[in-house]
Amino acid sequence: MSIPHGIRTLGVLGAGQMGLGIAFVSALRAKVPVLLHDRSADQVKKGLSLMDKLLDKDVGKGRITADDAKDARGRVTVVPDLKGMRDVDMVVEAVSEHLPLKQSIFSSFAAELRPDAILASNTSSISITKIAAAAVPGGMSAASDAGKASAGRVVGLHFFNPVPVMKLVELISALQTTPETLDRARAFAVACGKEVTTSKDVPGFVSNALLMPFINEAIMCLEKGTATREDIDTTLKLGMNHPMGPLQLADFIGLDTCLAIQQTLYEGTRDSKYRPSILLERMVDAQWYGRKNGKGFYEYSD
Ligand code: 3HC
Repeated sequence: MSIPHGIRTLGVLGAGQMGLGIAFVSALRAKVPVLLHDRSADQVKKGLSLMDKLLDKDVGKGRITADDAKDARGRVTVVPDLKGMRDVDMVVEAVSEHLPLKQSIFSSFAAELRPDAILASNTSSISITKIAAAAVPGGMSAASDAGKASAGRVVGLHFFNPVPVMKLVELISALQTTPETLDRARAFAVACGKEVTTSKDVPGFVSNALLMPFINEAIMCLEKGTATREDIDTTLKLGMNHPMGPLQLADFIGLDTCLAIQQTLYEGTRDSKYRPSILLERMVDAQWYGRKNGKGFYEYSD
């Protein structure tokens, strides 16, 4: 049976909260075999144990059968390196928000993976055009047909945390992305059960260009002593029906991630409305990253 996205095997690079979530929805909803890699064995172990818990919960709630859960878990295979992903039809990169790291990964993708594999980044804010330029193999001109084809398969596929719950994927086209790549990436996100919006390749795309100034204003309110952390969050939760207040949400996303996105926005636009607050910078200096390591605007013991 032909499938519109044509993805018979997916690679996922990074088994953190985003990568694991992407592997989960791909295996369970799109029913695609997933090859998962993370350089940290500990991260992979934690990720797979979370996946087991999520599948058990879905079985317990009667959303899926025990066989569905077993099949989904059976579709995920851990591979020791990129060579293990050599034959995938698409790979999604979900590592930390650091341009040189992503450029080096996409350069390795171009060297190691099939020339027709789609190369997607789950970046929250970094230019997909810059990432795509790194997918042109060394020595090849970016303007040649081969160079255009290599960069043309790069696309932004921005999932939201927690991936199993959030219904959106934001699709971002680099200057180089071909219409076929966009169509297949969109079809894959739909197969994962997501609604898809599209954004131009601007810093932060639509989602974080709107969300990050909002979070930053909340942090500045706290910094100026306008209100307590609880009152800032409760105002937005009860006054505007947000599921989480902005400080809780910042802790949930990760303060290091929020800062990296805000720096990309600020550097990419040179607009002072995106300048990260000093309090956020200091909290990241202190290595208070939010929920992921137990301390952010709030403390977490789980
Ligand atoms: N992974 C998987 N599932 C999770 C989860 C996680 N980390 N956290 C919560 N869930 C699931 C729960 O298991 C539960 O599932 P169920 O309906 O099957 O029981 C469901 O979510 C609801 O959870 P809870 O009842 O425990 O708690 P809440 O009702 O308070 O919901 C929440 C938790 C879904 C996280 C909700 O607070 C929320 O929607 N918060 C806002 C999240 C948000 O805005 N995310 C986007 C962040 S921005 C982003 O990702 C972009 C990036 O570029 C920065």
